[in-house]
Amino acid sequence: MSHQSDLIATDIEAYLAQHERKDLLRFLTCGSVDDGKSTLIGRLLYDSKLIYEDQLDAIKKDSQRYGTTDSEFDPALLTDGLKAEREQGITIDVAYRYFSTARRKFIIADTPGHEQYTRNMATGASTCDLAIILIDARHGVLTQTRRHSFIAALLGIKHIIVAVNKMDLVGYSQEVFDAIVADYAAFAARLELGDIRFLPLSALRGDNVVTKSEAMPWYQGATLMYLLEHVHIASDLNLIDFRLPVQYVNRPDANFRGYCGTIAAGIVRPGDEVMVLPSHQTSRVKSILTFDGELDEASSPLAVTLTLEDEIDISRGDLLVHPNNRPLEAHSFEAMVVWMAEEPLRPGKHYLIKHATLQTPGMIREIRYRMDINTLHREAAEQLGLNEIGRCVFELEKRVAFDPYRKNRATGAFIIIDRLTNNTVGAGMIIDRLQTGLSGSPEKGDRDNKREQKGHHDHLLSAIRPETSLISSAERETALAQTALTVWLTGLSGSGKSSIAHALEKRLHEVGFHVFCLDGDTLRSGLNSDLGFSADDRTENIRRIGEVAGLFNRAGLIVLVPVISPFRDDRRRAQETIGPERFFEVYVDTPIEVCEQRDVKGLYRKARAGEIGEFTGISSPYEPPDKPALHMRTVDRSVEECADEVFAAIADRIRPRH
Ligand code: ADX
Repeated sequence: MSHQSDLIATDIEAYLAQHERKDLLRFLTCGSVDDGKSTLIGRLLYDSKLIYEDQLDAIKKDSQRYGTTDSEFDPALLTDGLKAEREQGITIDVAYRYFSTARRKFIIADTPGHEQYTRNMATGASTCDLAIILIDARHGVLTQTRRHSFIAALLGIKHIIVAVNKMDLVGYSQEVFDAIVADYAAFAARLELGDIRFLPLSALRGDNVVTKSEAMPWYQGATLMYLLEHVHIASDLNLIDFRLPVQYVNRPDANFRGYCGTIAAGIVRPGDEVMVLPSHQTSRVKSILTFDGELDEASSPLAVTLTLEDEIDISRGDLLVHPNNRPLEAHSFEAMVVWMAEEPLRPGKHYLIKHATLQTPGMIREIRYRMDINTLHREAAEQLGLNEIGRCVFELEKRVAFDPYRKNRATGAFIIIDRLTNNTVGAGMIIDRLQTGLSGSPEKGDRDNKREQKGHHDHLLSAIRPETSLISSAERETALAQTALTVWLTGLSGSGKSSIAHALEKRLHEVGFHVFCLDGDTLRSGLNSDLGFSADDRTENIRRIGEVAGLFNRAGLIVLVPVISPFRDDRRRAQETIGPERFFEVYVDTPIEVCEQRDVKGLYRKARAGEIGEFTGISSPYEPPDKPALHMRTVDRSVEECADEVFAAIADRIRPRH
């Protein structure tokens, strides 16, 4: 194989070392056959001298024989030829799917049309870094171009190269190119596409593919190969939210139990506390085993076997997470769906939903809207036809643990399978859990909670159908460049909760976060002014505060909640209302003697004197949290020090995900 680097011939060790350090760019090419997809890839390989000499000879001969072009060489024959080889079952040609230059390694996702998207969605982790969108200069931006771009945006592909091909057939005209650029840019402005570059080229003639075109001196930009080699791909890996979907439980004998799977996101270390979903059992990681031995730390996308300290029931399809950083868990969610079957998607019909390692029956309860790909308008729809994209509400038989696709591709993507034919009929990306009420949401578990609560009227609730916003929380969070979180500070009266929360609020605000403090005392003078300090009133106080915090979070805000919240069950319900993934519990641990000594408001003295009844810690109980996300001891520490500690503990959780 001829290669750009001479190093391979002179110093093989140095060559291999250099090769090992190179980063990897995965890209896909979108366009129909006529747009010149295979020609482009062929040209890329040929001009980069990445083709076996014998292949080249054969192609040159074929080019002359078939006379498809008047040039000495038709690059399409190269890729088509390789395809034929592939069809015959010969080992997939490395140069085709995988190639490398002196700077970088590349993988081309070359599967046709739909298969490409399904695979990319189904294996969220392997989603491409870059998409080349091919446009035939003679035809300009077509519906298909828009569809591909829309899907690329949905998939979260960060870099787009719009390659206006066949420039030779339009006389290398700058006007034609500029018009296409303007047309595409106007459309793309409404999509969430990060980095878009436009490139005039002729794959057939080799203009601007690897070498700069002499025919288009008006184009000052880089060649395709240069862009591919230099585009900056900041790591997309989510290293914060540990997620391990269990693929298989390895139990060779009674003494060993290992849980195998590919880490979908985050980092895990021996000693880490882990929670199993959906059972919510917890244990600690004993060891991390891999093919190469035991590890001190493992991160996505490594395949590992974990052993745990305790014998707990875990089976395929379960998800292992850190208990203080949990995904959403629900029977229902909203998702964008790309439909891929002739037979349309129909609400009410039952399908199989395959999500991470879990498979569950489920149905689409409702199509919120269908996207008109040309205008990007949202329109009402009864069904989704082949190739159509829409936002749908899913209802599953099993409660599943998931993340919004924006936060985590691997646990945010799923595929839809027809139960009769077993065909993949659609692919989806989860937007969020179902955005109806908070504690009054139609989740099965929540409904039971709701029933326990006082003042609840079943018949009224059933008549109320909360309206759904067309803007998801994730979209709001992106706009605010943060991830919403409720920092719940529980502790005795006088423990320092409010002072710490306000210091923290100021700090967060100063560095640009959008944050609001919902102070127990303040709310008691307004929203909760009808409530006293009986156990029931406190429960209602916390219920209301949980609802408000949840709404603020949905608006994308970070909320700080300093309230005594003395009862564990009340806090647990608030956590459910807000969503465990957004709930960060801080136990402000100040011994009662210290609080009483400080007695800032003189309440302890009054309580001791019997002037105030049911005073927390004296005549009413305080139940400290079992497992707070942060256990903060305040004695001998300043308010600022404590605020700093919380800040450090939540920093990773509140930064923008994408
Ligand atoms: S909670 O128990 O319902 O969570 P919350 O945090 O809203 O209480 O309000 C507590 C504040 O109310 C205290 O900081 C204190 O200033 C005041 N307070 C008045 N009476 C009581 C009482 N009996 N017990 C506790 N706090 C009281």
